Amino acid sequence: MPDSRELISSKALPGDETTEVSLRPLVLDDYIGQESVKRNLKVYIEAARQRQEAIDHVLLSGPPGLGKTTLAHIIANELNVGIRITSGPAIERSGDLVAILTNLEDRDVLFIDEIHRLNHQAEEALYPAMEDFTFDWIAGKGPAARTYRLKLPRFTLVAATTRSGLLTSPLRDRFGISFRLDYYSVDELFQVVMRSARILGISIDEPGAMEIAKRARGTPRIANRLLRRVRDYAQVKGDGVIDRDISCESLAAMGIDSQGLDGLDRKILSAIINNYDGGPVGLSTLAASVSEDAGTIEDVYEPYLMQMGFLERTPRGRVATQKAMEYILGSTYKRKGLFDNP
Ligand code: ADE
Repeated sequence: MPDSRELISSKALPGDETTEVSLRPLVLDDYIGQESVKRNLKVYIEAARQRQEAIDHVLLSGPPGLGKTTLAHIIANELNVGIRITSGPAIERSGDLVAILTNLEDRDVLFIDEIHRLNHQAEEALYPAMEDFTFDWIAGKGPAARTYRLKLPRFTLVAATTRSGLLTSPLRDRFGISFRLDYYSVDELFQVVMRSARILGISIDEPGAMEIAKRARGTPRIANRLLRRVRDYAQVKGDGVIDRDISCESLAAMGIDSQGLDGLDRKILSAIINNYDGGPVGLSTLAASVSEDAGTIEDVYEPYLMQMGFLERTPRGRVATQKAMEYILGSTYKRKGLFDNP
């Protein structure tokens, strides 16, 4: 069985990239879901276009895999300007930042992913760049140091973060536009799967696509990854066409259940229920009892378990909900053949 953790990880993995680029919508009209973000963005883009100006700086926050990078590309594309892509951890010193900023053209988009991981020095250097389009460059050290004020092009910073709570308020306040992306509905993911199948030339019927959509954890990146794996299964074990049976069979073979939960999700819930009486239990204790990294549990597993109403984070620790108890006990009984659960 393949490691289902890789299948349901919302982080970008090697192998996603090549296909995801071609699956990425290039204009807002082709972008499925996030309706209120799209509606507002359309107005701001149109206004900037009419005034022939750069659009204000944009902050995109939300869980990984929901399309923050895609939106940055769309903004640049709709405005017909260039885009430079970097990330918080890749900018080590303010010198790295000046190299990027001075190479931008007027109205270009600079996309900084994981902006919450930008170091303090670079963050401070970014303030005047965002506000006045200037950069104070300090050359040399000690008494011989000289400060030069560089004039920058009028660029747009589009920044993405999975942890908006970690941003300092001076940084957050410098974004004129801020959107929070939410998990996609099953219906929206269904549309994403059908669109991707069309682009990749995959034969799939609607019930087959629906099964993938239901188990994609509200995340298009996961939906597209599952689609590719189910396609492999259909090709080798079936006649290449994805229908409901092939979809269910291959997803079950990957260890992903009807709610999109994988082995570790179930292990987390079972540990809280069986070892800690339903909780509360602290994150590090929980992580140790399921032998998984606390950061992975917090960033990848918990957001979906909370979204599904299976888990709550309380000041005293993690708590499994009534729904989780029914689900876990139900699936245990079902596995043991103790009762028939539809
Ligand atoms: N592929 C991945 N995310 C998408 C989205 N939001 N809309 C259309 N296609 C996508």
